[in-house]
Amino acid sequence: MQTTDMAPLHPDRNIALELVRATEAAAIRAVPFIGRGAKEAADGAAVDGMRAFLSTVDFDGVVVIGEGEKDNAPMLYNGEHVGTGRGRSYDIAVDPIDGTSLTAAGRQNALSVIAMSDRGTMLDASSVFYMDKLVTGPAGVGVVDIRLPIGENIRLLANALGKPVDEMVVSVLNRPRHEKLIQEIREAGAGTRLMSDGDVAGGINAARHDARTDMCVGVGGSPEGIVTACAIKALGGHIQGRLWPRDDEERQKGIDAGLKMDHVYEADDLVAGNNTLFVATGVTDGQLVAGVRRQGDYVYTESVVLRSHSGTMRRISSDHLVSKWL
Ligand code: FBP
Repeated sequence: MQTTDMAPLHPDRNIALELVRATEAAAIRAVPFIGRGAKEAADGAAVDGMRAFLSTVDFDGVVVIGEGEKDNAPMLYNGEHVGTGRGRSYDIAVDPIDGTSLTAAGRQNALSVIAMSDRGTMLDASSVFYMDKLVTGPAGVGVVDIRLPIGENIRLLANALGKPVDEMVVSVLNRPRHEKLIQEIREAGAGTRLMSDGDVAGGINAARHDARTDMCVGVGGSPEGIVTACAIKALGGHIQGRLWPRDDEERQKGIDAGLKMDHVYEADDLVAGNNTLFVATGVTDGQLVAGVRRQGDYVYTESVVLRSHSGTMRRISSDHLVSKWL
C-alpha cells in the first residue's frame, strides 16, 4: 500500500533490520559487563552502542521514551531527535538494557529493546515512574480487565484458554508491593512465576502463542509498559495500564503533563494505530531469546522483530566477528 507521495504507509520493513543492528550493538557492548556487578557501566556501554547505530539510520525519530531527561542523562534522552532526519517520522522508545541488575548479576531475561510507531502515537508516560499492567495473549482480548479482581481474571482467562485454573501461570515482579497480589493469585489456584526484574520480557512471554506463562500482572515501569504495548500489538494480545504514582507530588506531576490518574489506558491509548515495530536482542539468556555470547573469534546474538502490521515475529541470529567489535 502506498500514499500519494509514494512513501510507504507502514513502517519500512528495512528499518526493522536497521533497528536490530542497534539492539545487537547495545547487547554486544554490554558483553564485558555481564555478570560483573557493574550495572551502570553495562547500561552506559549499551546506550553508547545503540546510539552510534541509531544515528546512521535513515529516519526522523523523536525519543519519546529514553534514558531520562537531557540534564541527567545526556544520551538518548526524552525529546532527542535520532536518525539522519531523512525519511519518515516516528516516535521511538529505547531501553538499551531492560534488566540492568539482571545483566550485572548474570541472571536471565535481560533484553536490549527498541520500539517504534508513527510520530505522535506513543503515550509519553515518563512523568509517572510506575504503571500497573495486565498483559495476556490473544485469548484475553475482550475477556480480562484490569479493573476486575485478579482471581476473576485468572478464572476468565482459564475458561477462554480451555484449561483448568490450577494449570494457569501468572508472572509478576517479585516486589514487596506485590505481596497481596501474589497471595491472591495463589489463592485463586494459579501458580506464580516471580520475576526479579524485566517485565518487558515477562509481558511478551505471557502473550506469545507458545509461551509457558498465561498472564503478566503488576506494577512495573511506565516506559516498559509503552514498549511492551508495541510488542503486544504485533502479537494480537491484551494490554492495559493504569498509572501508579508513588506520592501526591508525582501524581500532580503526571496531571500537569496531561496524564490521567485512576484511568485505564487501553492498548490503543498506550500506542495508537497499527504501525508498531518492536525489536529486542538478548543480553542474557531468556525464554524469548538467547543472550549475547562470546566464543572464540565470534560474538553471537539472537533477536526478535515484531511488526504489528503483518503480525509476524521474526527471529534473527547473527554471528559477529569479535575483531570488529570488542
Ligand atoms: P532497569 O533495567 O531499568 O533496571 O529496569 C528493570 C525493571 O525490572 C523493569 O523491567 C521494570 O519495569 C522495572 O525495573 C520495575 O521497577 P522496580 O525495580 O523499581 O520495581
